[in-house]
Amino acid sequence: MSRVIFAFPGYEDIADNIAKELHYSLGKLFTKNYPDGESLIQIKTDIRGKEIYLIGGLKDPDSKIMGLIFFAETARELGVGNVHLVAPYLAYMRQDKRFQKGESISSEVFGSLVSKYFDSIITIDPHLHRHRSLSEVYFIPNKVLHASKPVADWIKHNVEKPLLIGPDEESKQWVADIANKAKCPFIVLNKVRHGDMDVEISVPEIEDYETYTPVLVDDIISTAGTMIKVVKYLNRQGKRPVCIGIHAVFAGSAYDNLMASGVERVVTCNTIPHTSNAIDISKVLAEGIKSLSLDNELKLTGTKS
Ligand code: R5P
Repeated sequence: MSRVIFAFPGYEDIADNIAKELHYSLGKLFTKNYPDGESLIQIKTDIRGKEIYLIGGLKDPDSKIMGLIFFAETARELGVGNVHLVAPYLAYMRQDKRFQKGESISSEVFGSLVSKYFDSIITIDPHLHRHRSLSEVYFIPNKVLHASKPVADWIKHNVEKPLLIGPDEESKQWVADIANKAKCPFIVLNKVRHGDMDVEISVPEIEDYETYTPVLVDDIISTAGTMIKVVKYLNRQGKRPVCIGIHAVFAGSAYDNLMASGVERVVTCNTIPHTSNAIDISKVLAEGIKSLSLDNELKLTGTKS
């Protein structure tokens, strides 16, 4: 079956890289917002009977969700085989329980909404905390990929004697994996969040690592409050850390605040387009898409249950 890759704005380079890597064709898509904020999408490639992949991250999800739904529904009306969503960054994963009485569990509502329109979903390092797997919130075939290899490669090539630091217990999963691949030590701190902009961090003794370069690693940098707290602590120890975020959400002035906080450098993966992007995840996505396509083929030919 022939396969076509489409890109939502900001993801054209990644789509191009994936199309080249997998020898898929690139589809033409026009998108715009009317002055009143409503979305328009126009699929300009013949997709009848084809398998299509839409690459589009979900930062600012409320402004993107209608475009995604219009894309999937229009693709079906135009006779597409299957329509897959490749969302390098998946939003709404942090609201994974009712923190206050009456709150919505947004991760579940958002997951079931997207599942109604797409045949499968691929993403990179979603914030899986209380939900242990993506299948708890997405009712379609899904694939969770990891940025750990390109992040570890970047560290190996750019940081001398790194000590990886995860800001909280949740970060252990990705920090341990990256440290293992980069062959360097890691520690994990203890974080208590009192509010959106108010976090408290306790830092264990790091005297044993006096000669190391601290590298803070987190999945999401949103307000940057978490990272800034640790940066300030390290500054008092005479250290300027390198900060690595997988997903560069950077709400409001977060990036400027982090840059001004006493860091050596801030780098992120291009799961969300941002000036700090230095780590390319195109290859990770290409491998994920390829293996999902293979899974689907095996299912279609009945060689796998
Ligand atoms: C939450 O547990 C995440 O792993 C990150 O630590 C968090 O999203 C960072 O948020 P902020 O940049 O707002 O402190």
